[in-house]
Amino acid sequence: MNVRPDFSKHGNKAETAPAFLSVWDMHSYYGESYIVQGINFNVHEGEILALLGRNGAGKTTTLRSIARMDSPQVNHGEIWLDHQPLHKMASYEAAAAGLGLVPEDRCIIPGLTVEENLQLAQIAPPIGWSLDRLYDLFPRLGERRKQEGVTLSGGEQQMLSIARALARDIKVLLLDEPYEGLAPVIVDEIEKTLRHVKEQGMTTILVEQNAVRALQLADRAIILDTGSIVFDGTAAEVLENESLRAEYLAI
Ligand SMILES: Nc1ncnc2c1ncn2[C@@H]1O[C@H](COP(=O)(O)OP(=O)(O)OP(=O)(O)O)[C@@H](O)[C@H]1O
Ligand SMILES: [Mg+2]
Repeated sequence: MNVRPDFSKHGNKAETAPAFLSVWDMHSYYGESYIVQGINFNVHEGEILALLGRNGAGKTTTLRSIARMDSPQVNHGEIWLDHQPLHKMASYEAAAAGLGLVPEDRCIIPGLTVEENLQLAQIAPPIGWSLDRLYDLFPRLGERRKQEGVTLSGGEQQMLSIARALARDIKVLLLDEPYEGLAPVIVDEIEKTLRHVKEQGMTTILVEQNAVRALQLADRAIILDTGSIVFDGTAAEVLENESLRAEYLAI
């Protein structure tokens, strides 16, 4: 049996309840480039954590490191999801352990319809949300179920990418800039669905350049600066702290 370490002993933020997802002393590299420089943070079950910071701060690298993508390499540290040691897993094992990464480029599979993109995610059990439930969440996808996925608008492709993650039985949703390039009205629509997904108990890490929008949705936030965490607290604390926002988020 895997026993999750008590990170509070190592000087991590004092926690009263054990975290659902724990990242401890994670260091990530691209070749010789040292990007994520020893970060610690916890995500509690059912919360939305905003992961913020300037361009190049290491947000995508952090998500990809948690998801155990081949690149970057995590050379040190531990990542635990619901008692499972992700740091010992390959990316496909981490996906099976319950990680749902929605990458920035959305990765819709060409030549497949909306529905086929979703069905492909459900090819192996355990299956997550049913197609009916996903179409209730995103009615636009239901209306376009026979349309080729890559011909959807940017906003619809983002919805499909999120729906595809939920079509698997995941424990954590990792979103890399889901609002990027989308009109405010579409951002409103996606934000509403993410709120609904949270109400269903999903745990989420939300990376977003649009920090104000992310903070409106998130419970907590961490701010990365050149691969280190410079803030870990509530979303409200970031919104209230003008100097923090100006220094690290340019808002
Ligand atoms: N495949 C790679 N090979 C080498 N260096 C990389 C690679 N991918 C990213 N980097 C570098 O790692 C650093 C962090 O990049 P990352 O994409 O994690 O930042 P980010 O916070 O997501 O930025 P953005 O807000 O622009 O998306 C950057 O300096 C970037 O140039
Ligand atoms: Mg990025």
